[in-house]
Amino acid sequence: MKPPFRCLLTAGPTREHLDPVRFLSNGSSGRMGYALAAAAAARGWQIDLVSGPVALAAPAGATLHRVCSAAEMLAACEPLFPACDLFIAVAAVADYRPKESSAQKEKKRGGPVTLELVPTVDVLRTLAAARQPHQTIVGFAAETHDIEARARGKLADKRLDWIVANDVSQPGLGMNAEANAVLVLGAGGARHAFGPAPKAAVAAFILDQIAPGRGRPA
Ligand code: CTP
Repeated sequence: MKPPFRCLLTAGPTREHLDPVRFLSNGSSGRMGYALAAAAAARGWQIDLVSGPVALAAPAGATLHRVCSAAEMLAACEPLFPACDLFIAVAAVADYRPKESSAQKEKKRGGPVTLELVPTVDVLRTLAAARQPHQTIVGFAAETHDIEARARGKLADKRLDWIVANDVSQPGLGMNAEANAVLVLGAGGARHAFGPAPKAAVAAFILDQIAPGRGRPA
């Protein structure tokens, strides 16, 4: 029997803690990543979803791995990546973390405070650099301007097969919204626009472009 098509996804925001109660993060709801995981599971694929903290239930048929920080996200993905056929990085990974973090709650200080930040690990770049020839690697690009040019830049720079660009400057679309409008750009020059539409419909469209012929449900 043919082995199932395996898909690994990241979703949601990540958090970088300053102390046990404070953290750096962003407004990602995880809905786009969870919609993709649900649409992929409905096609009969085997799904591992590595998710930052979100208020969503695990999509039916997907194995959910909960993480907090960028480093934890990479550590959860690394053992799953070699066996996947398709990797889709939807997570809004926090790009910086505090250089120092405290195991105890920090007390308020009088006057201004300066935070020193250092870059987090780039989960997508790290995994794409370790890719095998049979694997398809897909990134997302959340942009507010020069959307297509910036997304194409990330596609080439991170050595991806596809990038899904979305405009996060419009209220009600993209990050932390129910709907999305996307531009799916391929390394070979393909360009497919879709939406605005509910994220479930956007998810189905994206899968049709990046994994054609891999069993769309009736
Ligand atoms: N990404 C990641 N790890 C990071 C940063 C980004 O895996 N530390 C992934 C995201 O999941 C997404 C893609 O890289 O698939 C692009 O993310 P984005 O935040 O748009 O781009 P950055 O590379 O962080 O660049 P910038 O924030 O400067 O636009």
